[in-house]
Amino acid sequence: MPESLKLTSPETTVELTVTDGAIRATDLRQVATDQGPLASYDPGLVNTASCRSAITYIDGDAGILEYRGYPIEQLAANATHLEVAYLLLYGELPTPEQLTAWENRVNNHRFVHENVRSIIQSYRYDAHPMAKLMSGVASMHTFYPSARQIDDPEARERNIVRLLAKIPTMAAWAYRHSIGRHYVYPNDELGYVDNFLAMLFQSQQLVYRADPRVTRALEILFILHADHEQNCSTNAVRAVASAGNDVYTSVGAGIGALFGPLHGGANEAVLKMLGEIGSVDRVPEFVEGVKNGGARLMGFGHRVYKNYDPRARIIKRACEDVFEVTGVNPLLQVALELEKYALEDEYFIKRRLYPNVDFYSGLIYEALKFPPEMFTVLFAVPRTSGWAAQWLEGITDPQQRITRPKQVYTGHRNRQFIAADER
Ligand code: CMC
Repeated sequence: MPESLKLTSPETTVELTVTDGAIRATDLRQVATDQGPLASYDPGLVNTASCRSAITYIDGDAGILEYRGYPIEQLAANATHLEVAYLLLYGELPTPEQLTAWENRVNNHRFVHENVRSIIQSYRYDAHPMAKLMSGVASMHTFYPSARQIDDPEARERNIVRLLAKIPTMAAWAYRHSIGRHYVYPNDELGYVDNFLAMLFQSQQLVYRADPRVTRALEILFILHADHEQNCSTNAVRAVASAGNDVYTSVGAGIGALFGPLHGGANEAVLKMLGEIGSVDRVPEFVEGVKNGGARLMGFGHRVYKNYDPRARIIKRACEDVFEVTGVNPLLQVALELEKYALEDEYFIKRRLYPNVDFYSGLIYEALKFPPEMFTVLFAVPRTSGWAAQWLEGITDPQQRITRPKQVYTGHRNRQFIAADER
């Protein structure tokens, strides 16, 4: 017998069915009084389930993250990013034959139209790479008009594959543009992550070959960043998609949302913060400043996790493998001390604030010689697989309607226009 909830007002009583699931939810579309429908007021959609989804499960209290039911720890230990992308999109892990076919299919689409290169090229040398990536992705439906046929399953799939294949190329070129280096074209001999690293870092070598430990660490980071249910950028993707938009336009909007420092931009902000703190002995002073209303402790806190973010735990371990190759990032000690200090502090304990995915990832990116502006790009590249899966699920869900929330209007009403010279 499903749980139900009774809502009583002087005029009426409504019985609401509560759905099963990790989040207990009721369908507020049913709620009406004699004066009309009753809306929920929920800034930030903190307590609103905006869709149904079978892609990613999070239990924020327990610190659990699963893609299609598989714990993130198992995927990070055993899978590749493209394998996880397949899982997110199709719901099952691929067989070896399916995986080979999938890898070949994605890898065949890595080249981007030369005019996209011109779009990137037209930016000023110091433009943020997220802007270049966003406009590159948003332009893509103009090169592949079939993307607009969102009711055609074959066209949907083809354009998702194109997007997954081309986003590393655009991201790498956005970086090369900022350092004034020639653009490196994709290399068929290299896998998804190795090829990305080659397009980023190739100099005079004929073929750039990354250290396998670095490739594996980036592969793990890609898996951890692939999806995270209805976060700000995924919500943006779904909202834009709900108006009938193609995957490129929708993901372009997601990239814009991810850029924000409270979301994907936090990894860049963490590194700047660690640099400003500078040394272990300045940690207490910085944390006291945060508690007294100064800057936030970046890379800490999460809307959903009220426990250690499971992704942060895995990244913390991956740091060791990368630092074996690159040497230890001197800011690691500051980060470790900051975490220790904050986790023992009443302010953070009371609010259940723990390190999130962005706390340690920047240390790895910096050790790999990425400039801070590239950090959020390194989040956007793998998140594209999650955005695409969420886009597909949204536009094929018969219950989904155009996203159009209500507002609680607080402004003036019915004022009389006053001519400019009388104001
Ligand atoms: N440092 C100091 N205080 C904090 C922090 C922080 N990082 N995060 C939350 N708080 C405090 C906040 O001031 C509030 O205190 P009070 O109840 O006294 O007013 C309380 O904790 C609840 O915070 P909130 O802002 O209501 O929480 P939220 O769920 O709206 O925000 C968040 C979540 C991630 C935006 C926030 O924790 C934050 O700003 N963190 C720093 C930025 C960051 O690391 N973002 C990355 C998030 S994970 C990856 C991703 O989404 O891309």
